[in-house]
Amino acid sequence: MNPFLIKGYISPQFFCNRTKESEMLMSAIRNNQDITLFGPRRFGKSALIHHVFHKLQKEYVCVYADIWGTSSTEDFTKELVNGIILSKVFAKQKTSGKLLNLLKSIGASFSVGLDGLPSVDVIYNDRNQQFKSLEELFKFLTQLDIPILFAIDEFQEIKKYENDVPFEGKLRALNQRSNNIVFLYSGSEHHLLNEIFNEYSMPFYQSTRMVSIGKIDRKDYYTFIAGKFKKGGKDISSEIINHILDISHLHTYYVQAIANFLYSQDKAPASISEFDFLYREFILEKSVFYSELPERLTKQQFSVIKGIAKYGFVENPTSASFMEISRIGSSSSMYRVINSLLDKQLIIKEDGKLRMYDVFLEHFLKFTI
Ligand SMILES: Nc1ncnc2c1ncn2[C@@H]1O[C@H](COP(=O)(O)OP(=O)(O)OP(=O)(O)O)[C@@H](O)[C@H]1O
Ligand SMILES: [Mg+2]
Repeated sequence: MNPFLIKGYISPQFFCNRTKESEMLMSAIRNNQDITLFGPRRFGKSALIHHVFHKLQKEYVCVYADIWGTSSTEDFTKELVNGIILSKVFAKQKTSGKLLNLLKSIGASFSVGLDGLPSVDVIYNDRNQQFKSLEELFKFLTQLDIPILFAIDEFQEIKKYENDVPFEGKLRALNQRSNNIVFLYSGSEHHLLNEIFNEYSMPFYQSTRMVSIGKIDRKDYYTFIAGKFKKGGKDISSEIINHILDISHLHTYYVQAIANFLYSQDKAPASISEFDFLYREFILEKSVFYSELPERLTKQQFSVIKGIAKYGFVENPTSASFMEISRIGSSSSMYRVINSLLDKQLIIKEDGKLRMYDVFLEHFLKFTI
């Protein structure tokens, strides 16, 4: 099996480091503190949540709900219930009377899959009692009186619901009544999470510990990659490992994906130029994702992106040389373009430097322009 996972979580064996982050999260959880875990996309937030679940599985019933793409409070409740069904809340009796009663009480219609597990299709809402389903759900969890760790991933999505403010108020009230549940909220759209947790007038204001997730320590990632190749009986030079860590900006997903690709080769490249030869093919395969990009951007935005991709990162975008290469006439238009690219999450600011958010797009542009 390829030891470099490019989705999900299996076990600590395939998981690099995050020791400090895990310990901090576990200590907060054991002290009944709710947490907000935030960081850029694809840094490993969801994997870290599952890693912590793994470590706490004997102490807590862990529930994971991913609310990405939900657009209403009914969808939200639906995802929470589906998370509960997949968890160990019902232990071995997934189709027990208890579960059916819960589904009935929240007004859920459900179907049973091939695995014998029910999953909720729709939640019917009583217009006069808008949040009744959610109330019933939390009443049920509280009555169980077992320690529950409830992770709600992509939590910023609730900001996109129509009735977001009353909903946040309700959720906060329910949360405060649930003494046996620790909540772990996670997400990546920083401004939305800030609106939820750091605005004085909002229900969740400073109600959780804010934990940010950064890059994995370079030395640890080096050791992890070298160890996995060695264990698989595959050769890889330290030059190549360092090259992977450089070109990926240590952005977790991209490190994993490049290492996964190299591991899948019969023979690892012996030099950087051999690596580039293989890697070029790998990147060009992705052109379907990127070929429409120029149509989604203004000319100016696209030329700035090409400039950033060319250098890898840019410290001073208004320097004469960068302005020239990206064909922007004035610093004020440069700032305008940079801000719109940051907003679109096409670029990211890291330690005062700008780089492409999507590392593969950076490489794609480098290879094709
Ligand atoms: N510490 C780690 N060691 C090894 N692989 C990891 C680690 N953390 C994450 N990964 C892998 O990196 C990829 C991205 O991680 P994950 O999906 O958890 O990121 P995320 O921050 O939740 O991303 P998104 O914002 O898109 O939801 C996954 O394939 C995951 O398996
Ligand atoms: Mg995630």
